[in-house]
Amino acid sequence: KTRLAVFCSGGGSNFQALYHAIKRKKLSAEIVLCLSNRSRCGAMEFAREHKIKDVHLSEKQFPSFDAFTEAMLETLRSNEIDLILLAGYMRKVPDAVVGAFPERILNIHPALLPKFGGEGMYGLNVHAAVIASGETISGATVHLVNEEYDKGRVLMQQTVPVMPDDSAEKLAERVLACEHQLYAEALEKLLGEQEA
Ligand code: GAR
Repeated sequence: KTRLAVFCSGGGSNFQALYHAIKRKKLSAEIVLCLSNRSRCGAMEFAREHKIKDVHLSEKQFPSFDAFTEAMLETLRSNEIDLILLAGYMRKVPDAVVGAFPERILNIHPALLPKFGGEGMYGLNVHAAVIASGETISGATVHLVNEEYDKGRVLMQQTVPVMPDDSAEKLAERVLACEHQLYAEALEKLLGEQEA
């Protein structure tokens, strides 16, 4: 089984959707740990309830960024992680971790990259920007993570309509429902390709 680490910062609905999809689709993968920069968040609570290791790792706990990075690498190594899934992780993954997991880190972004990505583009900011630009179509993107924020190769995208009376919250909800399907499909595809 492919050993997964899921990185989260918030509600963790994508994490939960992945967890359930792995069971439902009988994927050859196991979520070994949930890593979060926040000790208390929906994602970490879900992990504890489901007996998944919860690892709280924040820069603030360490004297330097290098020490933080080293702790992250050690966590991933000691748990024999094969693949990292970012699911609402609102931090940039340290370059050394990206380097140690080439083509082995996926992210889900709540818009159609390369549009509406980059620094500052996360959560509701993304949806507010989409609405402000007058776009009639948004969506979700699953992509590989490289050293450039939101610039790694796109694996899968799915579109979602933007309604004339949308608020950022309403659009977020519609996109999130689509993310839950898409992330599971992308994982299934990737695992299938590894086996083939
Ligand atoms: C999701 O919409 C995800 O795409 C987005 O945050 C939300 C997390 O929800 N991620 C980013 O904006 C990353 N740049 P969740 O915690 O319920 O999965």
